[in-house]
Order: sequence, then structure tokens, then C-alpha cells
Amino acid sequence: RIEQPVVIVVFGASGDLSKRKLIPALYQLAYQNLLPANFTLLGFARTPYTDDEFRELAREGVTQYSTAGFDEHLWRWFSQNLFYMSGNYDDLESFQALAKRLEELDAERNTGGNYLFYLATPPSVFKPITSLIAETGLCCRTSADHLRRIVIEKPFGHDLESAKDLNQHLLNLFDEDQIYRIDHYLGKETVQNILVFRFGNGIFEPIWNRNYVDHVQITVAETLGIGDRGGYYDKAGAIRDMLQNHMMQLLALTAMEPPVAFDAEDVRDQKVNALRSIRPLDPEEVDQWVVRAQYGPGVSEGQEIPAYLEEKGVDPHSTTETYVAWKTEIDNWRWNGVPFYLRTGKALAGKVTEINIVFRKPPLMLFANLIANPNTQVPPSNVLTLRIQPDEGIRLTFDAKRPGPAVNVERVAMDFSYSESFGKDPGDAYERLLLDAILGDTTLFIRRDEIEVAWERITRILNGWKMQEEKAAQAGKRLRLPRYAAGTWGPKEADELLARDGRYWRNPH
Ligand code: BG6
Repeated sequence: RIEQPVVIVVFGASGDLSKRKLIPALYQLAYQNLLPANFTLLGFARTPYTDDEFRELAREGVTQYSTAGFDEHLWRWFSQNLFYMSGNYDDLESFQALAKRLEELDAERNTGGNYLFYLATPPSVFKPITSLIAETGLCCRTSADHLRRIVIEKPFGHDLESAKDLNQHLLNLFDEDQIYRIDHYLGKETVQNILVFRFGNGIFEPIWNRNYVDHVQITVAETLGIGDRGGYYDKAGAIRDMLQNHMMQLLALTAMEPPVAFDAEDVRDQKVNALRSIRPLDPEEVDQWVVRAQYGPGVSEGQEIPAYLEEKGVDPHSTTETYVAWKTEIDNWRWNGVPFYLRTGKALAGKVTEINIVFRKPPLMLFANLIANPNTQVPPSNVLTLRIQPDEGIRLTFDAKRPGPAVNVERVAMDFSYSESFGKDPGDAYERLLLDAILGDTTLFIRRDEIEVAWERITRILNGWKMQEEKAAQAGKRLRLPRYAAGTWGPKEADELLARDGRYWRNPH
């Protein structure tokens, strides 16, 4: 439970993120009785609303998206702590009015001058908002006696240079420990459990390396198309939307060395080391390592999905990828020679996020001819699957003798399921992250160097693609990306990427 009083100022409070995630997450914290008695939220956005209109919007968010359901009694308490003001993100007067409103709220509600500023806005206004917060003295380095923090959503930059520039801007105004860069994947229970699973048990870590692991696959698959997010997505693509942030985090947690202690700096030091060990790609060789594609029309989970190029807000000649697969290597002692294959896409055959650690085959395949398997090559049978979502759990696959007089070998599994073992599904990522931001724990937030090294590796891929586009333009041609039908597991080029290494994607069942 948070004892410290605090006002959470949400910039972009009238938007989607606030309605779908932030307000429901705070309500869920209230449901668990984790919020302080005088908890206060002040929404700030351009749209003019009264407090009551904002509360109505929040009510819709809670009824639609809260995992704790809706309780009228709790809602009455919760909603009276919600306030709203409208203003412009780049206007000094609006921020002076904000400062005044915060003073009033402080006096009325005894919130002790503690402010958590949450930037749930488009990235184009990150700089003006933070400049004005500093200029009006609402948050600055010297605010040490009060809680003054900035939580900043993704996208954090669109390439290495812009990420560095934003970091520099923020660090000119605030201290690193006041800046909370969010990646909501780190708030997921199953993602945090990667560390507990690896370093809280004695039996997995000794085989978590090149001597036993053949390769690693990380899949983040989604069934929906881009829907009405075309305007944003066409500028981002799968690489910026998912790979640079969420998937790099999954990779870092899977590959990192044990931290000295379980605290923010030690954990993040090791993640940075893992990211720095990712082999830098030569942009000229991008096609050897990366596949990008766009969805064509199809049906996913019973829903008709149009071709990406026909989606609203998408340039009909767009070369933005809705799917990306990346083969990479981690050049350190633990992982040398073990490829990591990452893939993510929209409009795929299933919604699933999982990490597969595929172990090597036994040195001598005594039973190879007894396995009924359509693949001509016998694939390694031992796979440890960390299922991040849905059906959160962990599964170990191995071969067993089917009962009977003959030796018939069949693939079986040992399963751990969160809901069966703990009697409930893991909570929402934003609950945990909001709690940590208020409590001042930065372990699950991204440090400056972490974001920059992730961008450095990703920008190499972007540069490779840029070169291809320039070449095509010079030849008077238009680049056309490979296609995959919506509702499938992606383009054939991605299958080929693994087939070249004698491997294949483990598609979830
Ligand atoms: C967001 C992306 O960061 O993550 C979305 O912008 C994506 O495109 C979402 O759908 C996936 O999050 P989750 O928690 O549903 O896996």
C-alpha cells in the first residue's frame, strides 16, 4: 500500500491510453486497497471537459477495461479523486494555470506537494511539456524534498539520434532517477518471472548457455490488424512499435548474466551488457538477417482484415512493415554461436507472446527412427517455453515412451500454469508500473543507456532498409515488401530465414 500522498498528473488524459490502461489500472489498485487515502489524479489535455465529464469518460474506461469489474461503491470513492483541466502542451500560461491548480489541490487534499507527471501524449509534445514543467518549477533537480517524477511513454525516439536527443533534453532538466521510461512489457508478471525462474532456481541456469542451448526463439504475435491506428503505425512499423522496445527487453532478460543484487542498478547493468553484446549488423547485409513484410487481405480469428495498404491512414505505397523477423547473435561467452530468432507481426494466426529455449539434441539419436514426425530431420525435442501471454505459464517438452510392447517415442510436456498454481491470472502491467513509479522503484523502467544501445542496434536495420529504398528510387523503381495473408504465421521469407540454418519456427498451438 502506498502511504505517501501524491497527485498524478496525466497529460493526454482524454486519450486512449488513459481510458484503456491508466485509469482502469489505478481503479484496480484502489480495489486492492493499495492507493493512499488522499490519492488524487489530475487529467490535463487539450479537449475541454469539466471534472464531471472527465469522470464519465473514466467510468466508461473502468467499466470496459477494468479486470476488477465495476463496483458502484468503490467507484464513488475513486471518482471523487479525479479532476481535470484543459490546456495546451506548449503554452506557458496553461502550465502556470496547472501550477496554480496543483497548489489548490495540495491545500484542499493535503497531498504534500508530491507530483508524478505521466506523459501519455504523442511524442511530438514530450519536449514542450517537460520544458514547461521545468520552467514553471513543477519538477526540477532541486525538488528533492518532494516526490517529483516524470513517467514517459513510448515511442521514445524514432531512431538512435532522436532517442539520444530526447535523453539529452530530459537530462538537462531532471536527474536520471526522476525519469521513468515505460515499457509496459516489464510490468507483466510473466516477464518479471523470467528473472525469478532463471536466478531463483538452481537447475536451469547451469544449462542456460551455448553448451546446451541450440537456439532461442522469441515470438510476439498479434491477430488484429492495425485497425484505426494507421496514422501512427505507418510511421512506426513493427520494428519501432514492438521490436525496439518490448522484444529487446525480452531478449535482454533471457540473455543477461545474473545481477549482483536484485536492485534497479544491478539488474539494469546486466541488461545493458546483454544488449551491448548483440552483434552489430552491417546495414549492407540486412537481408541476410532480417525479413520484413506486410499483411495482405485475409481472415484472422474470424475477422476479415483488409490488406495493410488499404487500411485507413496508410500510404497506399507504404513500405512500412507489419511483420519483422530478425536473426541475431550475442557475442559473449555464454551465447557465442547460439542464434536468437525474434519475430513479431500484426494479423497473424494467433495472439501469443512466448520465448522458446530450444535445447540441443542428444549426442546420439538412439530413437530417431521411432519418432513419428513429418520433418525429415529430427528436430530437438527439448524446448522450454516461457509463455508470456495468454495462458501464462511455462512448459518443458521432451520425448517419452508411449506405453506398449514396442518402443514408440512421443513428444510430451510438463506444464506450469499461473492460473492453476496461483488461482488467479496475473494482474495488469500498468498496475505494477504505476505503483513502482509512485514508490520510486526504477527496476522495471528503462535506463538511458539501455534505450540508447537498443536503438543503436535497431537503427542499423533501419539504415539497411533506407539504403534499399534509396537504391530502388535511383533505379526508378518502387520497393514492394513481401506479403503474407492475414491470419497466417507470416511470410515464407521468414520460414526461409530459419530453414537456411536447418531450423523452423515453433508455432504455438
Ligand atoms: C503496444 C503497441 O506497445 O503494445 C501495440 O503499440 C501492441 O501495437 C501492444 O498491440 C501489445 O501489447 P500487449 O500487452 O497487448 O501484448
